[in-house]
Amino acid sequence: MTATTIRSELRFILNGQDVRLTDVAPDLTLLDWLRLSRSLKGTKEGCAEGDCGACTVLVGRLSPSNGLVYESVNACIRFLGSLDGCHVVTVEHLAGGDDRLHPVQQAMVDFHGSQCGFCTPGFVMSLYGLWMQTPNPTDQQIETALQGNLCRCTGYEPILRAARSISSYGGTQNDPLLVERETMIARLKALGDGARVEIGGERQRLIVPASLDDFASVLEASPTATVVAGSTDVGLWVTKHMRDITPVVFIAGLRELKSVTVADGVVSIGAGVTYSEAIATLSQHIPALGPLIARIGGQQVRNMGTIGGNIANGSPIGDTPPALIALGASLTLRKGTIRRTIPLEDFFIAYGKQDRQPGEFVEAVHIPIPAAGENFAVYKVTKRRDEDITATLGAFRLALAADGTVAAIRIAYGGMAATPKRALAVENALLGQPWNEKTVEAAMAKYAEDYAPLSDMRATAEYRALAARNLLLRFYLETTSSAAPAQVSRYEAA
Ligand SMILES: Cc1cc2nc3c(=O)[nH]c(=O)nc-3n(C[C@H](O)[C@H](O)[C@H](O)COP(=O)(O)OP(=O)(O)OC[C@H]3O[C@@H](n4cnc5c(N)ncnc54)[C@H](O)[C@@H]3O)c2cc1C
Ligand code: FES
Ligand code: FES
Repeated sequence: MTATTIRSELRFILNGQDVRLTDVAPDLTLLDWLRLSRSLKGTKEGCAEGDCGACTVLVGRLSPSNGLVYESVNACIRFLGSLDGCHVVTVEHLAGGDDRLHPVQQAMVDFHGSQCGFCTPGFVMSLYGLWMQTPNPTDQQIETALQGNLCRCTGYEPILRAARSISSYGGTQNDPLLVERETMIARLKALGDGARVEIGGERQRLIVPASLDDFASVLEASPTATVVAGSTDVGLWVTKHMRDITPVVFIAGLRELKSVTVADGVVSIGAGVTYSEAIATLSQHIPALGPLIARIGGQQVRNMGTIGGNIANGSPIGDTPPALIALGASLTLRKGTIRRTIPLEDFFIAYGKQDRQPGEFVEAVHIPIPAAGENFAVYKVTKRRDEDITATLGAFRLALAADGTVAAIRIAYGGMAATPKRALAVENALLGQPWNEKTVEAAMAKYAEDYAPLSDMRATAEYRALAARNLLLRFYLETTSSAAPAQVSRYEAA
């Protein structure tokens, strides 16, 4: 085995400039660095928690299949240390050298998409990211791209009109990222020296492992280090809770954690795969997961956040764990060179406590695809449809026998207990019974044996208990009726 080279310098490209930094605090956010060290004030700070989109920038990285991919991210919760080998693009990079506005900016001006202007750079960057990938987007695609951008002035309609018209301005020949593309690929390739980045002393240490094996040995040697994947949870520990997260190991760039494979009826997702990277495969094989993922944060959060992080943080209100538990998923954990695979439900021991040893990390999750004829559904209950955290979430996987009785059933909930948890008493009341309203009503009475939910700002205990029971009824009705499911999928102005 060859020894790992260590570099004590962070290297990336900001707009057109090469950046090399030897003094980087592990918890320094990209937003603070842009505004305070580089005086790039176009990128704004609104909420500092990934909700408003005022801080949106694009991050480009080399990808094995597509060459160079740019995605919108929230600079307020993205750490500078995670950007080694990336291209950071801020709103200042858009206008041409002759001060001509970029088509995205010109459309926003012409359609009055800006009033006070505070949110505007963030909207421009989100729309730019969309326009690069989808020059003629549908309204649905525009809304998805802008889910994570808030504007208190315009009422959104002028921004939507601007978004629909961008391509009519032409101007691709002047678009900086299209013009620079080949050069940028070469410049980014030149940054990839295969070294581990290690900056700072013992307390303030920042590490970007060179490979998956290197990550395993780094974490084994520093078991108390904070692992940071997409930072959509950890970012808020810093900006909202002022927590000391050092030393930090950044894993977002590890290619080996980015694999998505489908084999023998199982989708396996590496711990570094983001929601945006997973959504197409998951929607194809387990369609109910697509709409669930589309309701996690805004586009920027989905571009950064990982399913691995959603599992590893152990939150009782994370959206994917209950769905994956109902599907019967398993988790591969790794410490050093030793791997073990456990049922996902066994990972969650108690509030804040998971079955993860010091120095161990989540490597991949394996999700069985329901067989043809099986039913799988997941329902997320929130106060607001988009960009909201779950009050309760129920997931159901059902197989019926030829005589219409319940041959197999798995039910799991989030927001109902200290961990994501199966409803075993409810499952037992259904198993072997005819799948009819009488059975379902009898099973609904069993929820009190499985859960004693809490009241908090998202919902009262009574509301949660009632909603949980009704989700089973809803699942029953949807599996037995051909009527379209009753759900809000889109709001229209009157
Ligand atoms: C605006 C906003 C909206 C959100 N909306 C939702 C929502 O609707 N539903 C929802 O479920 N979540 C939501 N989240 C939370 C968050 O996006 C998810 O929990 C996300 O999946 C976390 O992944 P990450 O890669 O960003 O994790 P990080 O923040 O990097 O890490 C989270 C935790 O996991 C640990 N960790 C990460 N990867 C590993 C690994 N491979 N091995 C061991 N430990 C690891 C970290 O140490 C940390 O404890 C939202 C967040 C924001 C900012
Ligand atoms: S400042 Fe609000 S999302 Fe970053
Ligand atoms: S223009 Fe004022 S917040 Fe959007």
